[in-house]
Amino acid sequence: MYILGIESSCDETSVAVVDGEKRQIRSNIVASQIEIHRLYGGVVPEIAGRAHIEAVSRITYEALEKAGLTLGDIGAVAVTAFPGLIGALLVGVNFAKSLAYSYGIPLVAVNHVKAHVAAGYLEDPTLEPPFLAVVVSGGHTSIYDVKDYTDFREIGSTRDDDAGEAFDKIGRVIGMPYPGGAALDKLAYEGDPNAVRLPSPALHDGLDFSFSGLKTAALNYINSERQKGEEPSAADIAASYTAVITDAITSKVRKALDMTSASRVVLAGGVAANSHLRKRLSELCKAQNVTLTVPPISLCGDNAAMVACAGYFEYLKGNLSGTGLNASATEPQ
Ligand code: KG4
Ligand code: ZN
Repeated sequence: MYILGIESSCDETSVAVVDGEKRQIRSNIVASQIEIHRLYGGVVPEIAGRAHIEAVSRITYEALEKAGLTLGDIGAVAVTAFPGLIGALLVGVNFAKSLAYSYGIPLVAVNHVKAHVAAGYLEDPTLEPPFLAVVVSGGHTSIYDVKDYTDFREIGSTRDDDAGEAFDKIGRVIGMPYPGGAALDKLAYEGDPNAVRLPSPALHDGLDFSFSGLKTAALNYINSERQKGEEPSAADIAASYTAVITDAITSKVRKALDMTSASRVVLAGGVAANSHLRKRLSELCKAQNVTLTVPPISLCGDNAAMVACAGYFEYLKGNLSGTGLNASATEPQ
């Protein structure tokens, strides 16, 4: 069955066609708004919503054309309904509802976080739950015990900010273009990871994180160096900051593996593109004899193929939505 996926939760408008049974991507068009938001140093929600409106129907045609299919071939329309920027989400949800209603196609609401994890199924079509999922992005930092394709238990999460946002914030202060995550990743190779002492974002007990203290400590360090008339080494900051974040995530995954005896880990989300984190987690999983699945960089950031794949599993569970579907900024409880 072919699923048409639609993603508009943040600053990427994306439409994809995925073959659900084969877990195969037929097309995955991503229209990024990064250049538009760069001017402001972060995503401007109002501008994001408007840019989604301008892009969504054009890229739907593109995705169908690239897949060599028409709407008549589509078995379900899957759309990110939560969590995300409400104005941005509403564009995708309303577009998906109109499409589903006018063509008589079943509609499926998708949780954006579960969609990130579904990128693992596209990377490895033999992947099956149960496994541990680590979702690290601009808006999420969580560890899940994935019981089934649609049944997730959150066992660890951030108490405040997210890993991607933390990378972007410090990236901006040391002069990286928005979003700073990918640039910091590269720059970290040129610095000393022990040069700047920073507090760990891993909280002592359990599997939770807190990034606010780390961000403040890094900012204080940069400001105090500048007050002394010295410009701190951007490479040393990138290396030290990256090391403390990757150490924290790796140590919590180690703890989660001990707690759950899982034999597989899926790393997902925009920050899963971080080469240092990929390396550290692959070393950990190798040492623990655990299989690690990491999607290719193109499926780590927001894209609609992962939404279509997650939507396929919701469809199989019978979780269909009607025209009353609404978007939600947070995950409905
Ligand atoms: O998943 P995503 O596209 O959007 C959200 O759902 O938030 O993640 C975007 C985040 C940004 O904060 C970006 O800086 C970060 O992923 N990111 C990275 C890297 N590539 C993207 N962070 C660290 N290292 C990278 N290589
Ligand atoms: Zn995302």
